[in-house]
Amino acid sequence: MEKSALQMARAAYQPKLPKALQGAVKVKEGAATQSVGDQEEIKKLFPNTYGMPIVEFEPATEANNTKMNVGIILSGGQAPGGHNVITGLFDQIKKLNPENRLFGFILGPGGLVDHNYMELTADIIDEYRNTGGFDMIGSGRTKLEKVDQFEKGLEIIRELNIKAIVIIGGDDSNTNACVLAEYYAAKNYGVQVIGCPKTIDGDLKNDQIETSFGFDTACKTYSELIGNIERDCNSARKYWHFIKVMGRSASHIALECALQTQPNICLVSEEIEQKGMSLDDIVTYIANAVCQRAADGNNFGTVIIPEGVIEFIPAIKKLIAQLNDVLAMPEAKELDRHESIDFVKAHLTDENLAVFNSLPTGVARQLALDRDPHGNVQVSLIETEKLLSTMVAQKLEKMKKEGKYTGKFSAQHHFFGYEGRCAAPSNFDADYCYALGTSAAQLIANGKTGYMAIVKNTTAPAEQWIAGGVPITMMMNMEKRAGEMKPVIRKALVELDGAPFKTFAAQRDRWARETAYVYPGPIQYWGPTEVCDQPTRTLALEQGK
Ligand code: FBP
Repeated sequence: MEKSALQMARAAYQPKLPKALQGAVKVKEGAATQSVGDQEEIKKLFPNTYGMPIVEFEPATEANNTKMNVGIILSGGQAPGGHNVITGLFDQIKKLNPENRLFGFILGPGGLVDHNYMELTADIIDEYRNTGGFDMIGSGRTKLEKVDQFEKGLEIIRELNIKAIVIIGGDDSNTNACVLAEYYAAKNYGVQVIGCPKTIDGDLKNDQIETSFGFDTACKTYSELIGNIERDCNSARKYWHFIKVMGRSASHIALECALQTQPNICLVSEEIEQKGMSLDDIVTYIANAVCQRAADGNNFGTVIIPEGVIEFIPAIKKLIAQLNDVLAMPEAKELDRHESIDFVKAHLTDENLAVFNSLPTGVARQLALDRDPHGNVQVSLIETEKLLSTMVAQKLEKMKKEGKYTGKFSAQHHFFGYEGRCAAPSNFDADYCYALGTSAAQLIANGKTGYMAIVKNTTAPAEQWIAGGVPITMMMNMEKRAGEMKPVIRKALVELDGAPFKTFAAQRDRWARETAYVYPGPIQYWGPTEVCDQPTRTLALEQGK
């Protein structure tokens, strides 16, 4: 691999580890846990992995020399720091016993089922220290849910003498990790399964998981780009920039980028749902802000749009819920794309059909057809930024005719998603991920299964971080997926009474009217700690900093 100068310098970075993970560890167990919802059902579905205690690692004097081979899987969308989870895991299992071996399954969970793997040796690992991307072994979105997949996986696990599988993924992948852990435990196969909280979306967090890895770097990368656009916008003073940012359903990325860059407008899907806003309400809100700035002579601005916003407009949310049920009908599975639209339309209620027909054709098709393997609407493919700017332009035309608006409106469109998912991890993500990988190794060595590796107290210096594991069943509840109630990890959406949203809400009217842009600039890896080692605003505010 030909390397950039930054890559070479960055390879030498030694991630900081919490004190408790620097040497031998012992496990401190807390009280028994229960799931966040639907306790009776979850307990019934996970009799072997339900109710286990939260564990925390403490320094110990006696080393555990467990002999163990480990398999690792990267699952779902890329997130900065994934390679450091692997290097942390590798370094720790080798420290426990130099004979331990690490196997990477290629291109996601499918690699386990198809027996597509490679051994990750020191030479390979050293090439990827502190790098972005998942290209060491690749990632994929195969859903691990069927017994024949678990049994097929077991064949290669036995062949390679693997003691545990580590699945690095988001809420869906960790749900599957939990199902796999339960299956292997129920069968007494002696194979452990450990999860790791990955996703740039920031929606895999709760009382135990402070943040998912990758959120920090992705948000800082998008904020750099948004800041650059704001500066261009404030220099040329002739465009309104409509910027959609990734994040699936949750608006954490949009909100964090807004806190970092102070745009004129940032939509927050969760608020739109709570207020029961229609598409027209959103368009009116943006058009009024454009109008007010125009009155001050400012025919320019920036709007941040969370990619999942469309799913949160109550009428569209209702439509999607029915579409999911219709698409789950056995007859729907046999149809081609064209027949599928007709089928869907024939099965919608009059109310939902009216909403469906009111949407631009491209958006309606996207909602009716494409789902990822986990049943999610592929919101990254819906061009909400263009939909909104077109509707705002139409509204402004109308306002002009009514004599309510006299400005000029010209729009530019951007979608920031893939730009941030493979960025070189910030110091925070590099350290956090390395610690997560180290924790995962210690969970395995201590015989745990059905746990997610965790690291807490992350707004303090890394030395003071607290590492351990949380039972995955603790994060679960029952939700409807593809027409059926399924156990899933509860997604964390933006809390409207949480400090990040409240901080934003307290300032947004001023940001809308004034030009209060902040230009964060690129992620820095070396330099003063207030520049290089700061957590996201979201994390700091949530932890009361
Ligand atoms: P996960 O971490 O949940 O896998 O999703 C990350 C993400 O980047 C979302 O923000 C986005 O909607 C989706 O992946 C895009 O999917 P794909 O990579 O398949 O285009």
